[in-house]
Amino acid sequence: MTGMGATTIQWQAEAIWEAVSPSLPTFSVEILPEIDSTNTELMRRARAGQLEPVLLVAERQSAGRGRLGRTWASGEATGTQPGGALPSLTFSLGLTLAPVDWSGLSLAVGLSVVESLHPDLKLKWPNDVWLQDRKLAGILIETASVGELRYAVIGVGINILPRDGQGLSTVPAALCELLPGIDAPAALARVASNLVRAVRQFETQGFAPLRADFHARDLLYGRELVCSDGVSGMARGVDAAGALLLHTPGGLKKITSAEVSVRPVPHPAANQP
Ligand code: BTN
Repeated sequence: MTGMGATTIQWQAEAIWEAVSPSLPTFSVEILPEIDSTNTELMRRARAGQLEPVLLVAERQSAGRGRLGRTWASGEATGTQPGGALPSLTFSLGLTLAPVDWSGLSLAVGLSVVESLHPDLKLKWPNDVWLQDRKLAGILIETASVGELRYAVIGVGINILPRDGQGLSTVPAALCELLPGIDAPAALARVASNLVRAVRQFETQGFAPLRADFHARDLLYGRELVCSDGVSGMARGVDAAGALLLHTPGGLKKITSAEVSVRPVPHPAANQP
């Protein structure tokens, strides 16, 4: 069921395995005290031919990675915290997937995470999880082609406890602000089996059936945005493939996740003396 290193934290690995394994018999849950990055490890394993479905959880990452080549730091908890509590939850789900169309997978993953955690959480396209105007969780999806198969590695990092925002433009949000007393194992228990179900549902049905649910969680809808390639306009949700729709002076534009990062345009009043 699990491969566990020495850990004193009470992970609910067995309950997760019991929820998932009836529909995915070779599934395993593995908890490691430390690794460079759960995504890096599952990509290494896939390239070495290990393609079994696995949930790999790390209590600490020494080289966590984010989207667009950024690093992902789990942070140090600030304030008075229960001894040994993890400041963040970091894990990756690895499994072979064969959807007809991969577009929208990252949105489906983000949607599953927010729906598993709290009604007040929103998605900042394509898949950042935000609480009001602060980021609470990030998702990094990578794939490896092995022969005919494609192995997807879906990495999720969730801030559990308040932490300092050193080097970041805004202080990150933490799940304990919404769910006082929650810890990393409880957050994993909420998210993990739903995520496996959502990803496997995406494999057969794609993103289109999730569009309305995404709009209900869309942080950007109706906001003026500027993309990294200079295109700007008003966000109008996403299309059936998960592309961001921008209402620009030149008409409605579709932005795909490969092309841009999106930032709200500063409100003009913010620049006035
Ligand atoms: C982002 O917001 O840029 C994505 C962050 C993804 C972080 C998670 S933590 C678990 C997994 N392992 C990694 O190295 N990254 C992802």
